[in-house]
Amino acid sequence: MGKDVIIACDFASAESTFAFLDRFTEEKPFVKIGMELFYVEGPAIVREIKARGHKIFLDLKLHDIPNTVKKAMTVLSGLEADICNLHAAGGLDMMKSAVEGLTRPDGSRPLLIAVTQLTSLDQQRLETELLIRQPLEEVVLHYAANARKAGLDGVVCSPLEAGRVHEVCGKSFLTVTPGIRFAGGPSGDQQRVTTPKKARELGSDYIVVGRPITAAQDPVAAYRRCLADFTN
Ligand code: C5P
Repeated sequence: MGKDVIIACDFASAESTFAFLDRFTEEKPFVKIGMELFYVEGPAIVREIKARGHKIFLDLKLHDIPNTVKKAMTVLSGLEADICNLHAAGGLDMMKSAVEGLTRPDGSRPLLIAVTQLTSLDQQRLETELLIRQPLEEVVLHYAANARKAGLDGVVCSPLEAGRVHEVCGKSFLTVTPGIRFAGGPSGDQQRVTTPKKARELGSDYIVVGRPITAAQDPVAAYRRCLADFTN
């Protein structure tokens, strides 16, 4: 897998998701299915989108005791998603168990990446709500190093952290980065935003893009612009 744009399909139903995907007649974009859509439509939505020829990042952010996560990952491994994820905050044993659970009898498995720190958290919240006193970037890099130690393939992080993550964890350790906006576009609830071009310069491997594509007047044109800016 190389550099690519992943569209966050944050829709409330299969119907609206397929209406959106049907607009793409020439390409099969990589799509992200999150909790909202998965909880409404269940595993069938993953199978259906996969059957249409899309790659899938199943963004369910697991976080529980190692045994529970392992068993849940075994269930997810049967859905043939290309990328699954969990919270690095669950610890090393949880992440190792997740890799075990996700690995199929033939040794294959989807890529597994860890959320380091949610981009909705900032330094102040980290200190006052979670009682984590270290600088946010240090925490992100430490969690990324833990994910690598546990055998994961990469992390979800801000594009602004992608370069440092690669320095610490190696170039082949994947950085999957949301918080992407076109220059001058509305940032919505995202705090620290980066353009697709800047994300490429910063070393992101995959950018996750939602509203700049899904809410665009012409989503296909917005996707192509994103892809061109990110990959050229
Ligand atoms: O619409 P927008 O481009 O902001 O969508 C970003 C997507 O990435 C959403 O699906 C959001 O849940 C997800 N995400 C994020 N920040 C993280 C992890 C996931 O924005 N740290």
